[in-house]
Amino acid sequence: RLDFLQAEPIRVLITGAAGQIAYSLIYMVSSGEVFGKDQPIILHLLDIPPMTKVLEGVCMEINDCALPIVREVVATTNVAEAFKDISAAFLVGAMPRKQGMERKDLLSANVRIFKEQGQALDQHAKKDVKVLVVGNPANTNALICSKYAPSIPKENFSAMTRLDQNRGQSQIAVRCGVPITNVKNVIIWGNHSSTQYPDINHAEVITAGGDKKKVRDAVNDDAWLNDTFISTVQKRGAAVIAARGLSSAMSAAKAASDHMRDWWQGTDGRWVSMGVFSDGSYGTPAEVMYSFPVTCANKKWTIVQGLAIDDFSRQKLDSTGNELMEERGEAIAACEA
Ligand code: NAD
Ligand code: LMR
Repeated sequence: RLDFLQAEPIRVLITGAAGQIAYSLIYMVSSGEVFGKDQPIILHLLDIPPMTKVLEGVCMEINDCALPIVREVVATTNVAEAFKDISAAFLVGAMPRKQGMERKDLLSANVRIFKEQGQALDQHAKKDVKVLVVGNPANTNALICSKYAPSIPKENFSAMTRLDQNRGQSQIAVRCGVPITNVKNVIIWGNHSSTQYPDINHAEVITAGGDKKKVRDAVNDDAWLNDTFISTVQKRGAAVIAARGLSSAMSAAKAASDHMRDWWQGTDGRWVSMGVFSDGSYGTPAEVMYSFPVTCANKKWTIVQGLAIDDFSRQKLDSTGNELMEERGEAIAACEA
């Protein structure tokens, strides 16, 4: 088709390209699910030198997938080459946590990666690049990345809490016995950590009987919603590590692909949760990457405003905000040391 042949390819970076999440994410991006089936891409894949051989194997498999939209693959361990002229970046490459750790325990190991990559974005990427940080602790890494890329607007940086949203919506769908597509507007507030607040107060479900209901009314079990549901979502990452011996990868890749697709192609009025630069909405601390409900259009996100916040929710929004402020202080100190 002529428009497909004429479309200009965009350069899309995936870091940690020899790792677990990338192994699923590369296929999702290369199959056209994220930027569109008519949008050719030049894939930039970055990993560190010890992973060169594995990266070569990944490249062989990309070729063998015979993917129509992939025009070229730039697989490299050179940061400048990886970030050159990119329009979108999935910053995945970082150490994952092991059993018994909190995600913020990774801060000292991972934050310098995001300082270096912020500088690389500043120097080499397109100024309208869209950046999704997946590597943990994702919110604070995204903040640091943006701090070291002053020439790129702060709105172009985001942190992934979509996996938490998908987990929350899936828990509700199972509980109500309906397909996942019947559940909408579960919100994740705050940090991608065990202090995050999965909030169902504004969520809706189409029940098995076909009625549209508030999730609280459809489930009709406040004890489960206020306790089991919240802690299941907050601790799901740890539960996957305990079961698999490795952190989530397939579901993380799916969430990264959902997040970037919605940012790039728009949400059509649906709410999605993204860690974005806080403007202080809902009394949250400014200058941290806080997860809010947003809508996306024209490649821009907008925080959903005007939602009622009850006392139970207020306390949870504050507690996850406080944790982000603490992480911010530690991360800035680690980068300046
Ligand atoms: P992994 O160990 O399988 O892969 C990470 C890859 O990153 C490795 O190949 C490693 O060599 C590479 N890497 C390390 N430093 C790098 C650098 N400076 N530049 C480029 N590449 C580098 O880990 P994974 O399972 O793919 O997880 C990656 C990260 O994503 C972890 O920090 C994990 O905790 C995080 N994660 C976040 C979410 C989320 O919801 N935000 C979900 C799942 C995992
Ligand atoms: C997750 O939520 O699965 C990831 O952040 C990995 C982890 O450490 O929990």
